[in-house]
Amino acid sequence: MNPILEMRAITKEFPGVKALDGVTFDLYEGEFHSLVGENGAGKSTLMKTLSGVYPYGTYGGDIVIDGEIRQFKTIRDSEHAGVAIIFQELSLVKELTVGENIFLGREPSKFGIINWSELYQKAAKLLQDLNLPIDPRTPVGNLGIGQQQLVEIAKALSQSAKILVLDEPTAALTESEVETLFEILRKLKSRGVGMIYISHKLDEVFEMSDRITVLRDGKTVGTQNAGDLTKDKVIALMVGREVGDIFPKTSHEFGDTALEVRNLNAFDLDNPDKKLVDNVSFSVKKGEVLGISGLMGAGRSELLMSIFGAWQGKSTGEVLVEGKQVSINSPSEAIKNGIGFVTEDRKRFGLLLEQPIRDNMTLAGLKKISGAFVTHLSKETVAARGAMQSLKVKANSPLTVAGTLSGGNQQKVVLGKWLLTNPKVLFLDEPTRGIDVGAKQEIYSEINKLAKEGLAIVMVSSELPEVLGLSDRVLVLHEGKLTGEFSKNEATPEKVMAAATGNH
Ligand SMILES: Nc1ncnc2c1ncn2[C@@H]1O[C@H](COP(=O)(O)OP(=O)(O)OP(=O)(O)O)[C@@H](O)[C@H]1O
Ligand SMILES: [Mg+2]
Repeated sequence: MNPILEMRAITKEFPGVKALDGVTFDLYEGEFHSLVGENGAGKSTLMKTLSGVYPYGTYGGDIVIDGEIRQFKTIRDSEHAGVAIIFQELSLVKELTVGENIFLGREPSKFGIINWSELYQKAAKLLQDLNLPIDPRTPVGNLGIGQQQLVEIAKALSQSAKILVLDEPTAALTESEVETLFEILRKLKSRGVGMIYISHKLDEVFEMSDRITVLRDGKTVGTQNAGDLTKDKVIALMVGREVGDIFPKTSHEFGDTALEVRNLNAFDLDNPDKKLVDNVSFSVKKGEVLGISGLMGAGRSELLMSIFGAWQGKSTGEVLVEGKQVSINSPSEAIKNGIGFVTEDRKRFGLLLEQPIRDNMTLAGLKKISGAFVTHLSKETVAARGAMQSLKVKANSPLTVAGTLSGGNQQKVVLGKWLLTNPKVLFLDEPTRGIDVGAKQEIYSEINKLAKEGLAIVMVSSELPEVLGLSDRVLVLHEGKLTGEFSKNEATPEKVMAAATGNH
């Protein structure tokens, strides 16, 4: 059997960066082929050459589909050849409805007039096939990130692709959404669709893959049957070295209470009677890492956002920083009071993609670095360069545009930005989403170092091993209420999950 796709010696250069250096990759009908590698290894770039985002002529090597060399000039061209791609960063138009997004540019029409009822019928059918209880007339902006991701998949399916590329599709999905997705993918596999799956979640990679290809620094390290590999082997191939325990051995000395929260309530934006955070009180000491666990929708992000003055709905309660009551009605007041916040949705809240790393990093701490009104670009550059080095951001210089960084390196820039504000308390919401193992280890040791220096850290994460591995203490939320509190020694996956599901 011949492969349906062959990528031969693909090279791609950006100014000063050789992103791909002779990569080979192939895919068979009905195959699930995972593509893994560290942040910046070239995975997304490779898929952008395949899908015509980088047109023929801007990369070297050949893309062969069904035995024919293809010269795609646009994404449309690759779609015609049966390639559908779900990008790492969501690309739906928030203002349009779900149905409009699914058929964007391919609306059913007659004599140039769009047949709306047909469009919505077709969209409803697709969503139904996927078991997604979403009304196709809902504006996409009203959906959560997880549901938006599933709409992207519905869109790809509507193109009846032979080759489906999924770049980090589960980063923002709940466990049950991931299961839904995998069921769909298994169905597609049985219909002969070949899938290229990019993920940093190696459990998923091993659950689903026939073969695994590892990229490192723009080169293919190798392709093997998943059955012949183990997680540790894959990690070693990705990183180029053995990675031991990724969590630092923590022993933190606690100081005084840095932050105390009393009776915090946050109310639903659309339904002001509904509490998303229900009378939560807690405190965190200097030098302590406090983990907050809970299922999706438990109110974890809402809790942090309310304290930070970023919650759009109503919120009530008291916040004390270093024992003094403070009134925080906006993020800038939170920053003034010494609170920093690495948010979960870096595209929406965290980064200016068109701006250089320097400006992104120095934005929140601008006043501190530059004096009240004058900005000192050179001081900023130095500060940004320092943060880049300590976080090992992979980029040529502080002037590199943030949008050109790989996903994981963008996350490091967001972290760096908050560190330059010298906070007393740092909130981290899903700090390692989309980040490779090697970089995770670096971020964990950075968090550990910050705690040792006396910073109080409050971390929300859906990855239980991360919460358990890093936290000195774990709080658990269930439906907005605090349902568990465990010290490092008491916290086990079973106890935390029981509290998170309300079975405590
Ligand atoms: N548009 C661009 N301009 C300049 N450099 C780029 C651009 N896109 C990617 N790069 C660089 O190419 C390299 C590969 O990036 P790519 O996004 O393919 O990595 P990745 O393997 O997908 O990483 P991640 O796991 O973080 O998503 C990185 O060094 C990145 O900074
Ligand atoms: Mg990527």
